[in-house]
Amino acid sequence: MPVPLHTTGKASFDHIYDRADPREYYARMSELDYRIPELAKPFFEQQIREYRASARVCVPTVLDIGCSYGVNAALLRTGATIGELAEHYRDGGESGRHALIARDRARLAEDDRCPDIRFLGMDAARPALAYAREAGFLHDFVHADLEASDPTEEQRRVLASADIVISTGCIGYVTEKTLARIATAHPRRRPWMAHFVLRMFDFAPIEQELAALGYRTEQAPGLFEQRRFASADERQQVLNTLADKGIDTTGREAEGWLYAGLYLSRPLPAPGDDA
Ligand SMILES: C[S@@+](CC[C@H](N)C(=O)[O-])C[C@H]1O[C@@H](n2cnc3c(N)ncnc32)[C@H](O)[C@@H]1O
Repeated sequence: MPVPLHTTGKASFDHIYDRADPREYYARMSELDYRIPELAKPFFEQQIREYRASARVCVPTVLDIGCSYGVNAALLRTGATIGELAEHYRDGGESGRHALIARDRARLAEDDRCPDIRFLGMDAARPALAYAREAGFLHDFVHADLEASDPTEEQRRVLASADIVISTGCIGYVTEKTLARIATAHPRRRPWMAHFVLRMFDFAPIEQELAALGYRTEQAPGLFEQRRFASADERQQVLNTLADKGIDTTGREAEGWLYAGLYLSRPLPAPGDDA
């Protein structure tokens, strides 16, 4: 069956984002060698380390936007690779959702690599969030589409507790609208941000919106493999988009992989703040 494409030209996986458990998500992503959360992990760990040192916060709160089934939290907390997680859910075989949740909870109870981090998730897909919360990967979540509307007061309070906002595979689905709503959830305190963004999406509008809120953004050196193209159609459309933007895809997307850059945004200290 042909892989449906979004209007952006990227393959659409919307049908696997809102299943009751993550088996299909990991199975499909593993077929495409989806690896951006794995490559992102050391960079997120570094942001968390630096935040701890700079803000002198013992238990920082990390908000993963477009977190799906708690993918980044699962990688950071269990120490598993994305391949091992895919295997873990493949091994789940015929077990039902409850059995998978029990297995995930038992694994975290035995070995949680991040007992001193509070993990929040935000996503537009409620079943994925519910799984991530019940499996123990997330301490709390916000089910919202902040592209469409402001957070409710209750959602705003949860978002306002974030110290660091991270994402993989989410920018493009969400824009500066969502990020500005998250950045301003707290009336004064602005969270740090670290987003892995496909080269087909322009980070400039987000950077500008965040700059107006007092942020400075830097692109970290390097490009990161996200996944293989899902079809020849997707490849052609994405290569066309990148060519239109004047981006050289030689040795990168032209070889069959989508690539992402890492954008780091931090609030500039307000005048009179200690450096
Ligand atoms: C490609 S998946 C990435 C999931 C996970 N971060 C990962 O890297 O494995 C994109 C996620 O963005 C979510 N999403 C799409 N539109 C959204 C929106 N407007 N607000 C929040 N999440 C959204 C989808 O439900 C899906 O879980």
